[in-house]
Amino acid sequence: MFIQSCFQKDGGRHTITKTDDENQDEHSFASEIYKGTSKEETVMKVNHLRVVYHTDDNETVAVEDFSLDIEKGKLISIVGPSGCGKTTILRCLAGLLQPTSGEILVNNKKCVSPGSDRGMVFQDFALFPWRTVRQNVEFGLEIAGVSKGVRKERALKYIKAVGLEKFADSRIHELSGGMKQRVGIARTLIMHPAVILMDEPFGALDAQTRNIMQEQLIKIFEQSEKTIVFITHSVDEALYLSDRVVLLSKRPSIIHQIIDIPWERPRNRADPEFTNLRKKILDYLAGQNVIG
Ligand SMILES: Nc1ncnc2c1ncn2[C@@H]1O[C@H](COP(=O)(O)OP(=O)(O)OP(=O)(O)O)[C@@H](O)[C@H]1O
Ligand SMILES: [Mg+2]
Repeated sequence: MFIQSCFQKDGGRHTITKTDDENQDEHSFASEIYKGTSKEETVMKVNHLRVVYHTDDNETVAVEDFSLDIEKGKLISIVGPSGCGKTTILRCLAGLLQPTSGEILVNNKKCVSPGSDRGMVFQDFALFPWRTVRQNVEFGLEIAGVSKGVRKERALKYIKAVGLEKFADSRIHELSGGMKQRVGIARTLIMHPAVILMDEPFGALDAQTRNIMQEQLIKIFEQSEKTIVFITHSVDEALYLSDRVVLLSKRPSIIHQIIDIPWERPRNRADPEFTNLRKKILDYLAGQNVIG
């Protein structure tokens, strides 16, 4: 049985406490609770992130007091209503946007710019249409001045890893949406980032391709032992993929709840625990009064 956990602020860092009902049910999804600190190695730490956008006549508070520890080797999803600030948070993690206040630490150092330790996979693929698959995947190495032969060899390795070896010389317009996104993932993986930041990477795909991509991502995640921060609108996708789900409120977003997912992979979407938790989260999002 799923019981909504209460969220309390503890010196600004969020902790979940169990309700009475949860205490009665040690097998509830929330029986493994996030305590805000971890013995595992923290690769990124977000402290009291606040982001305000200023336009000529307006001010938009996109993110309000967002704190999170991102541990090595975890796949963490961020879920929340449309416009609640998910992309804003990811851009701050990537170093593409500076917080209005608060800070982001990467390996205990303040993050002030993008770095090769973080790779971003964009929702709209952001590929170069005039280049072939291999030339797209090689791009980062080319900028880094890596020789042609080494670039080619490494690109083919990652193209194979995402199952596109037969399309290495194809142009981008010849590919399906799912194939394009795999090029985007290979292009990020080839740079060996410690953390991969993914902004709704499967949002534009049909349901069947999306499921295939989810399986591939799990395979890549398990083989490469990467840390992944994954933004999605899909509660189902978040529960299927993640070690932890961060549930945001509507804008200005605060963390409503952080849920540690204890289930082994591969997960069964038809499992009553899975469906119960999905329903609870969807009910929360529906109550936020915006399209989620
Ligand atoms: N460059 C910008 N200038 C001004 N306001 C912005 C800018 N970028 C985002 N916003 C505003 O900040 C808020 C959060 O935007 P953001 O793109 O982070 O939301 P999101 O959760 O990613 O939304 P979605 O789920 O629809 O992608 C929105 O109200 C948006 O209008
Ligand atoms: Mg977004």
